[in-house]
Amino acid sequence: MTQDELKRAVARAAIEHVPMGGIIGVGTGSTANFFIEALAKIRQRFDGAVASSEATAQKLAAAGIEVVDANSVIELEVYVDGADEVNRALAMIKGGGGALTREKIVAALSRTFVCIADGSKLVDVLGRFPLPVEVIPMARSYVARELVKLGGQPEWRQGVVTDNGNAILDVYNLEITNPAELEAAVDQITGVVTNGLFARRGADILLLGTPEGVQTLKR
Ligand code: A5P
Repeated sequence: MTQDELKRAVARAAIEHVPMGGIIGVGTGSTANFFIEALAKIRQRFDGAVASSEATAQKLAAAGIEVVDANSVIELEVYVDGADEVNRALAMIKGGGGALTREKIVAALSRTFVCIADGSKLVDVLGRFPLPVEVIPMARSYVARELVKLGGQPEWRQGVVTDNGNAILDVYNLEITNPAELEAAVDQITGVVTNGLFARRGADILLLGTPEGVQTLKR
């Protein structure tokens, strides 16, 4: 099976987590895009979606799904999104597509986070994928120096401006044995908006695409 077939399989499997009625959260990236395709077919089942990026908002609208402002919802029953890496405790690295801050907001609003990922995303230790950190542009160099003190090698993702008008640093060479601790430490650096570790609020359910079928892991 190709990687795209595995992504499509987990995206379809996530449909069973979409409740009747209410507003859901929808993530960003190629796996989330397959989910939007599947969602379009059942759009009568729910009332609308909060998008984790401008790109997803456009795709939802094009699929005929109402896009809802996050400020007008108190809680989302479910949030479905991909990940760049996920471990067996369902902590993740996200933000390869640069949408980490809005993704974290949607995750915070959600009762259940369903991560959809092909099998290549499952790792024992997070950190081979560079950790994205969204920073206020004027703090970029300061934050980079502080990230070096934490043991990483930050690289500015040049030419990228997030949906929130900020810059991204990708931090290489981290071996993240305590994701919740590092998540908090990076967030403490002045000028950091968010980092792409989703450990304090990780996924609740992982739908993992393998050649043998979709495996379900729960926290
Ligand atoms: C977007 O910012 C990311 O968090 C995505 O969820 C992540 O990059 C997964 O993307 P793919 O589904 O394209 O691998």
